[in-house]
Amino acid sequence: MSRIAYVNGQYVPHKDAAVHIEDRGYQFADGVYEVCEVWNQHIIDMPRHFDRLDRSLRELRIAWPATRKAVEFVVKEVVRRNKVNSGLVYIQVTRGVARRDHFFPGDDVAPSIVVTARNTSPAAADRQAEAGINVVTYPENRWPRVDIKSVALLPNVLAKQHAKDNGGKEAWYIDDEGNVTEGGSTNAWIVTGEGVLVTRPADSGILRGITRAVVLDLVNREKIRFEERPFSLEEALSAREAFVTAASTLVMPVVKIDDRIVGNGHPGTVATALRHLFHTATDLQKV
Ligand code: PDD
Repeated sequence: MSRIAYVNGQYVPHKDAAVHIEDRGYQFADGVYEVCEVWNQHIIDMPRHFDRLDRSLRELRIAWPATRKAVEFVVKEVVRRNKVNSGLVYIQVTRGVARRDHFFPGDDVAPSIVVTARNTSPAAADRQAEAGINVVTYPENRWPRVDIKSVALLPNVLAKQHAKDNGGKEAWYIDDEGNVTEGGSTNAWIVTGEGVLVTRPADSGILRGITRAVVLDLVNREKIRFEERPFSLEEALSAREAFVTAASTLVMPVVKIDDRIVGNGHPGTVATALRHLFHTATDLQKV
């Protein structure tokens, strides 16, 4: 089956989909993105992802490329046209195409939008979750505005490649105080020896993950003991459990941090329960 992408108003074969060489996303990483999970032909938490997209656009003073309703329609249509049952849909908006100049272009330049979607294997992801993943630590070296979901992901690319080169699936950023901020493309969590779930507050240093927000809803609903506070690498190394969250991984147990085994070396009960319960707490929109 041929894949279809949406580029600036048109549905085009994925292999031919292209943006102009002077798109500011390409020249300056001057753009933002969202990734939503598609689950059994439903888009997961679209309102929350669109709220965050709206916020990212506002922070960077980029206009919506079309009305929110129109973009929602396109997102569903791209999922439908690609016959995605379970997978991911990607939305990217940049400041548009203009002669290369650092200053913002005039109001006559329209933002660019690209939407793509693809199937992923839920069975493979579940197998991965049953084994757990290794994370590799990396010094926090990103700009302070990581709350904006910008396409400027070079530090994340380098951190994640470092993790991969060292046998990990994810990097954990460690800040100057020795605290874990987040993963290269995930939020970070631990369960302490006393059984308390801990994640860093989202007011600075991390992206306010949508999956994180759903897990917080679940934690309240299931009355799981929980603290929102920074945690150090040292505390993570002596934790009972660790896991990461993102639209692309859902709740994914962590069994090793660098060369140190977490807990008993197997996915923890809290992470596993949260993974199983996850879709009972999400907003589901049929495509
Ligand atoms: N990444 N932190 C970072 C740096 C991220 O890039 C992501 C998401 C998250 C989790 O956010 P959410 O739960 O809303 O997916 C946290 C996406 C999936 C990506 O870049 O592929």
